[in-house]
Amino acid sequence: MIYVTRRVTFSASHRLFNPRLSDKENEELFDKCANRNGHGHNYIMEVTVVGEPQEHTGYVVDLKTLKEILRQEIVDKVDHRHLNEDVDFLKGIIPTAENIAKVFWRILQPKIPDGKLFSIRLHETENNVVEYRGE
Ligand code: NI
Repeated sequence: MIYVTRRVTFSASHRLFNPRLSDKENEELFDKCANRNGHGHNYIMEVTVVGEPQEHTGYVVDLKTLKEILRQEIVDKVDHRHLNEDVDFLKGIIPTAENIAKVFWRILQPKIPDGKLFSIRLHETENNVVEYRGE
């Protein structure tokens, strides 16, 4: 099997808070990330598709097609947005990298044209990265 990865970037702001907790509890739990007006990240997302190269193309998945899907389904909807406020599919979740990766998986998994979605890695900072493999 061959693992093919497309990397995309986007910039977005978010605020980590749980609406069921008090302001003080949110501050204790999320510290600076609970800042009322949010803060931003330059996210990097790496989407990996697994499969065998197809006979007629030699590709597992055409990266031009995958790039277009990632742009339409994800990047256009989250880039330069406030993830808590502006993005319908992130409403009602705490927008940690973990939760965002799971939502992105749900959106992308049925859209992958060839091969199978293997993983979504979401880098929130240079040092923090999460990876989701759908289970
Ligand atoms: Ni943050």
